[in-house]
Amino acid sequence: MALWGGRFASGPAEAMAALSVSTHFDWRLAPYDIAGSRAHARVLHEAGLLTDSELEGMLRALAGLAEDVASGAFTPSADDEDVHTALERGLIERAGAELGGKLRAGRSRNDQVATLFRMWLRDAAKRMATGTLDVVDALVSQANLHPGAVLPGRTHLQHAQPVLLAHHLLAHAHALLRDVSRLRDWDARTAESPYGSGALAGSSLGLDPDSVARELGFAAAVENSIDGTASRDFAAEFAFVLAMLGVNLSRIAEEVIIWNTAEFGYVTLDDAWATGSSIMPQKKNPDVAELTRGKSGRLIGNLTGLLATLKAMPLAYNRDLQEDKEPVFDSVGQLELLFPAIAGMLGTLTFHTGRLAELAPAGFTLATDIAEWLVRQGVPFRVAHEAAGECVRVAEARGAGLDELTDDELEKIHPALTPQVREVLTVDGSVASRNARGGTAPDRVAEQLERLVVRAEDF
Ligand code: ARG
Repeated sequence: MALWGGRFASGPAEAMAALSVSTHFDWRLAPYDIAGSRAHARVLHEAGLLTDSELEGMLRALAGLAEDVASGAFTPSADDEDVHTALERGLIERAGAELGGKLRAGRSRNDQVATLFRMWLRDAAKRMATGTLDVVDALVSQANLHPGAVLPGRTHLQHAQPVLLAHHLLAHAHALLRDVSRLRDWDARTAESPYGSGALAGSSLGLDPDSVARELGFAAAVENSIDGTASRDFAAEFAFVLAMLGVNLSRIAEEVIIWNTAEFGYVTLDDAWATGSSIMPQKKNPDVAELTRGKSGRLIGNLTGLLATLKAMPLAYNRDLQEDKEPVFDSVGQLELLFPAIAGMLGTLTFHTGRLAELAPAGFTLATDIAEWLVRQGVPFRVAHEAAGECVRVAEARGAGLDELTDDELEKIHPALTPQVREVLTVDGSVASRNARGGTAPDRVAEQLERLVVRAEDF
């Protein structure tokens, strides 16, 4: 049943209808559509356009429809163009054509869909935040399990300076918490309801959009009906936050993949979160991490596709906008699959702390400590840097570690290099010395962990 037959002599061509139909993806908006209809019926009543008994009959029919939608007794038919069309048919089946036909006054599918999509996304935002916090929890629990473990911190993927494993893991947690805070910022901006904007110009029937907005959980109605029906930056911004989440998760995933190689040997995956090979019996593959890495590309694609749809679109509503939903629904669906899997994989990783500790000083990661020790003896950093570099050159040439340089060798490199420098040539000494706010010293990391847990509890 179409909503617009009057001026047409014939129905749509089959291919036209097939192109037009959207129920296969917008049916998930049905509960929100019914909530919108309930609120709309009330403002029609307030405006004197429905009698008391008509309102009662309308709400009864909508309640029955909501039940049948929830149970699956009512579903869209092949002739229903979209979720709004299908539900109007359902309403008319329950309330009769006379009463059911009154609800469409003063609203349009344009303001409906813009409102319902926002409502669906605002609920999804809460699920996305919860899923993200589950991943944060997994990182925090690993940090708690290994308060003293160290590893070689890297830049350019090369050994750089030793850091605490907890410090490294929490770096990922901070990025994810910013995504949660992005979701909250987004929600505050998206808490305006377009319902009542009509097709684009607003309604002439004396309806109160703010009352509908409040009933649907929005802070207010939109200021501008054209903007209300035509803007989709809320959808693009949401897709961005999910893409950013995907990218942040992919950075964790990539590290797990590397850490799990024989060459690194940092971690072992729990059997429940790994897969085997159909031909190579020895294989234990990090598929969770690889799918995370792969799906992050898909989330970026959903964002860029949506932006391309919106680019240069004239005001107000254009049917192109029907293309706004699937990419965002897809991003939500993918993350709903990913969150529990990543949280499970991370929470059950076994870290080989002995190996990590062995590698932490390798690659001369304590060279900066020599330079900074010299600075504390009054040597200018430029000179200190040269001297520490020379220590690396001498040690490397004879296959020794920095702590194995002899007193003579040290003195020859720089007279200020007394044997006391060896005090900082341990991983623990190096880590403990980086003790300003944000540094990797155990006390600082413990405080960081405390603050992070408190922040996560806020969300
Ligand atoms: N199904 C459409 C959408 O998702 C809403 C319908 C608006 N159609 C129209 N011809 N104005 O955007």
